[in-house]
Amino acid sequence: MAADTDPDRYAFVVASNRLPVDRVVDEDGNEGWRHSPGGLVTALEPVMRANDGAWVGWVGQPDVEVAPFDNEGIHIVPVPLSSDDVEEYYEGFSNDTLWPLYHDVIEHPSYHRDWWNAYRRVNARFADQIAEIVEHDGIVWVQDYQLQLLPAMLRERRPDLTIGFFNHIPFPPVGIYAQLPWRAQILDGLLGADVIGFQRQDDASDFLRAVRHIKGYTTKGSTIDVPVDDPAAPRSRKGITVRHVEARHFPISIDAESFEAIAHRPEVQERAREIRESLGNPTTVLLGVDRLDYTKGIRHRIKAFGELVEDGRVKVEDATLVQVASPSRERVDTYAALRDEIELTVGRINGDLGVIGHQPIAYLHHGYPREEMVALYLAADIMLVTALRDGMNLVAKEYVAARFDNDGVLILSEFAGAADELKQAVIVNPHDIGALKDSIQRAIEMPRRERSTRMRALRKRVRDNDVARWSRSFLEALDRHAPNRAKLDPS
Ligand code: G6P
Repeated sequence: MAADTDPDRYAFVVASNRLPVDRVVDEDGNEGWRHSPGGLVTALEPVMRANDGAWVGWVGQPDVEVAPFDNEGIHIVPVPLSSDDVEEYYEGFSNDTLWPLYHDVIEHPSYHRDWWNAYRRVNARFADQIAEIVEHDGIVWVQDYQLQLLPAMLRERRPDLTIGFFNHIPFPPVGIYAQLPWRAQILDGLLGADVIGFQRQDDASDFLRAVRHIKGYTTKGSTIDVPVDDPAAPRSRKGITVRHVEARHFPISIDAESFEAIAHRPEVQERAREIRESLGNPTTVLLGVDRLDYTKGIRHRIKAFGELVEDGRVKVEDATLVQVASPSRERVDTYAALRDEIELTVGRINGDLGVIGHQPIAYLHHGYPREEMVALYLAADIMLVTALRDGMNLVAKEYVAARFDNDGVLILSEFAGAADELKQAVIVNPHDIGALKDSIQRAIEMPRRERSTRMRALRKRVRDNDVARWSRSFLEALDRHAPNRAKLDPS
């Protein structure tokens, strides 16, 4: 796609709540930006560079106004949030209403009209900002649940645009979704997009069902007829003018090659050996890596492992569970309560079952750089992904990508989106503590041959379906949807 002559207008815009950069301030108070190398950025970077793209989002701190700037070849356009916006739109509506509602109401969602107003206000701010910077007939790709009103708000301001939306988290069954006092408005917001992407087929089906039940619109396969007041628009079988919106699944992935490349580095392998040694060289190292979030099933996994040690099925000298829980959304009450609960449980288990020199659980409340994560993956005989509900769970895919030695066992919850693809994992229902204990024991005892057969198949799957393929297939669906509009250059 040819770049526009106006340097402040972009042919391709990605919008997400958080920008792919972190603001860092050094000791002398100088401000800088650190590229945060998430999978989404890696996937979109080449498309951004080839199409003169811009990324619109929040810098992650309240009351920080920053002018647009370039970072490693990406145009960054910050949207400021005040501390009230952070409290009501981000911590409130996004993470204390939508997040628990969309994750099977594991925690109770709070419904506050003030939070809803803030959600609308911030989505509208994104829409205003984007409408100003995207060129005529441009393409906008909106990411995730924090911005569900943005597609319709953009369409209203700029009917010339082609708009995609991708939901990184699950979409709930209509019986749960229907609790939301603003259920129809959110659907209207999403239906402003041309293509709406979900992680799993089930998420897309639940969304289509919600559209039929709540909006009364007709759907056929993955296509929705959205009534429009435009005599030039096509007519549906019912004779009304409609826009066609496509809703289907596009399972997200990781940059598998880069994880494997890191795992091949001698210093990372040396670090993996060092980690095992620091743990007292147990026969089995088990690993959990999560944001400290109630959807991740951290309590279930700790309980199952603690009981195995307590029952004498696993000896404390022989096995250690390393649990990395990175700090997350700490000002939201449910998250603060979860932290207390987990830390109490870990303390109890270590106090009751530990011996000098051997603790059952090594608990780390930190985030780590990617190299350290890969060293942990290489050090771990068993990876535990026991989410109670998860859109995809990229940690499961990262573990697999790092295991170029075709060793290691992945225990994976059937409630994580990754379970649809990673079928050679040991699949568990994390609510069934008895079965979870049996699965852990089975993984500990699994013969090398079986571990290797399973891991080979898993690795092939993750390598063949990487994040570049994910973004390509979504953008191709957008192109198909707007055949007469401008096309993106694939890289
Ligand atoms: C999930 C969401 C993302 C979010 C991330 C971290 O993966 O799908 O949209 O950015 O969690 O959460 P945070 O609230 O810190 O952005």
